[in-house]
Amino acid sequence: MTTAQAEVEAQKKAAADRALELIRPGTVVGLGSGSTARYFIEGLAERVRAGLDVRAVATSVESRRLAEAGRIPIAERVDGSFDLAVDGADEIDPAVNCLKGRGGALLREKIVAHASRRFVVIADESKLVGRLGRGPVPIEVLPFLWEATSRAIESLGGRPALRLAAGQPYKTDNDNLILDTTFGAVDAQLGTAIHAIPGVLEHGLFFGIARAAIIGCASGLRILGELG
Ligand code: 5RP
Repeated sequence: MTTAQAEVEAQKKAAADRALELIRPGTVVGLGSGSTARYFIEGLAERVRAGLDVRAVATSVESRRLAEAGRIPIAERVDGSFDLAVDGADEIDPAVNCLKGRGGALLREKIVAHASRRFVVIADESKLVGRLGRGPVPIEVLPFLWEATSRAIESLGGRPALRLAAGQPYKTDNDNLILDTTFGAVDAQLGTAIHAIPGVLEHGLFFGIARAAIIGCASGLRILGELG
């Protein structure tokens, strides 16, 4: 690992460690997906080993595997909303809107984020952007007639590309496809328009969902929004 990579990992871990301080005993915590969320899950496992009483809901098969390996109790169903969900992001703007889904878990991530009273994003400083849309917007679509769904997305001005893994269509944990769609700068209205297309299950635009972001920076932690 280069010094620069080590610095990025340290920033992710510092953000995850700060988010661990938000957990209240006896509550349900939503676990995100990706390399930053992994630090959070590992830290939570340590706290559970030390006696913390929580249950978790995982946003991906991989996060659930990590949670189970760390002996974090899994909630199979949740009555009411979660107290807290903590997840990474691919882009974060100054108003804590996010672009997510490069890891392919966006559908379950958005369900959990939406169901939680406090959705907090953790990231290293490379994820900060002035405006969302630096990279493509991941869109989860049903495999049935996905080409028609893709054309409808194109009519909104996007350039969809079917995500591949080892030369084959990438399949999400829900057995769906991902269209990584380049739009340029994006806004909440675009998210609404994408949602209205039959065949679209979810997109990676998280406007107005996160309460706060904890950003690991070279100069220390930066908090956007309100953690409380
Ligand atoms: C997965 C996600 C991840 O949270 C996002 O891709 C950030 O991942 P990482 O922390 O590895 O940079 O949205 O669907």
